[in-house]
Amino acid sequence: MGLPADEVVRRLEALRSGDLPTHGGRTLAYVYDSGLAEADELGRQALAMFAAANGLDPTAFPSLLRMEQDLVRFAVELLDGPDGAVGTVTSGGTESILLAVQAARDSRPDVDHPTMVLPSTAHAAFHKAAHYFGVEPVFVPADPETFRADAEAMATAVDQRTVLVVASAPSYAHGVVDPVTRIAAAAAAAGVRCHVDACIGGWVLPYLRRLGEDHPDWTFAVEGVTSISVDLHKYAYTPKGVSLLLHRDAGLRRAQFFAAADWPGYTMLNSTTQSTKSGGPLAAAWAVVTHLGDDGYLSLARQARGGILALLEAMDTVPHLSVVTQPDSTLVALRADEACDVFTLSDEMLARGWFVQPQMAFGGHPPTLHLTFSAATAPHMADFIAALKDSVAAAVAAGPVQVAPDLAAAAAAIDPATLDEAAFDGLLQVAGLTGPGGELAVPARMAPVNALLDVSPPRLREALLVAFLDRLSRP
Ligand SMILES: Cc1ncc(COP(=O)(O)O)c(C=O)c1O
Repeated sequence: MGLPADEVVRRLEALRSGDLPTHGGRTLAYVYDSGLAEADELGRQALAMFAAANGLDPTAFPSLLRMEQDLVRFAVELLDGPDGAVGTVTSGGTESILLAVQAARDSRPDVDHPTMVLPSTAHAAFHKAAHYFGVEPVFVPADPETFRADAEAMATAVDQRTVLVVASAPSYAHGVVDPVTRIAAAAAAAGVRCHVDACIGGWVLPYLRRLGEDHPDWTFAVEGVTSISVDLHKYAYTPKGVSLLLHRDAGLRRAQFFAAADWPGYTMLNSTTQSTKSGGPLAAAWAVVTHLGDDGYLSLARQARGGILALLEAMDTVPHLSVVTQPDSTLVALRADEACDVFTLSDEMLARGWFVQPQMAFGGHPPTLHLTFSAATAPHMADFIAALKDSVAAAVAAGPVQVAPDLAAAAAAIDPATLDEAAFDGLLQVAGLTGPGGELAVPARMAPVNALLDVSPPRLREALLVAFLDRLSRP
């Protein structure tokens, strides 16, 4: 016999105490908090009720099929889907994007070496899809001022091999909606699918529109948009593990499905990457969405946007920091001047109980801080802005984190493909992620590590972090 149940719960609580808080509105990435205890409790209850139900076979668990159809109907209406629009519940934004890319590739068996055209600001999930499915990504630099996709340059990049064109609503890194109307028109003119990644904004932007806010059109109301991904575990404030991939019609979805009958067991028949999948997250999403409804989301969107507007209004009073570009939704990137190191600023915020996410330099642009506002952050904006000012002052007083020039030069010159495990051990130690005996030692202050990663070219950064994860996840 193992441990008594109450002892197990005590240990779970102890484990959780080391995590970032998921509630309270002070974690501005990874988590989304409505601040509504009843909705949270309902989600947890539904999650537990359906945890063992298996979405593998919708005829065996018709409850799951019914809840999926209800969620799809809600989303299709929210996102101006036409009659005939269909959708699938997936485990998250990345899975929705993977499936959109896979379906696009498989719908064009006539194309030998398929490509997809996407703005440089598209989410990294598309890089993963490119890697998994052998669809070559053609990245088109976004506008250097607004960080919106360059529709004309993207149209020029579309050719005979293009099977998919991508836009974001909004982009994760800058929170802006791409010019979807022009991007989708170019895709349609070439007979190519156009996917809008609304994973992070799809459940907020339509409500902001109803509240009178203006941003570029991006839903199925835009001709040429063939699919949209929207995550419920983000701004629908449902427990983790639920996104939707919507298609304009069933024909566009067909290639997403997979069946395998040529083996001795049951015929595998899947609409998603997962086969066996818990009914818990889907049921939790159904419960929360049914409980909050349209009115609930309108009010939550108003609240989350209120938080970001309060920040934008206060930015004049925060020295050394500015907004990279005016955000359309509820996420924003901030940059700092030379006197203030953003990585130190992020550490200082964490020391004051606020998690804000550093984003590395990219495409000639300096590093930034990413802030995703939940509804639950809005009531604490005065505290947030005070913490931001204090943190800026502390970061300026500490001065910039210096990476030794010879180290930066070495990082720029290393070809990660040439490194063996011993070399990675050495580099992780230089980066400050392991101690002298090779033991992992994630420092409390991440600024020196981030500064070194920031001067490392992306390929080296990827390789170093993979080596780190490999060591971190050994039992
Ligand atoms: C725009 C966008 N697309 C895709 C994703 C990936 O979603 P997930 O982390 O649920 O896989 C995110 C996550 O933040 C996102 O913001």
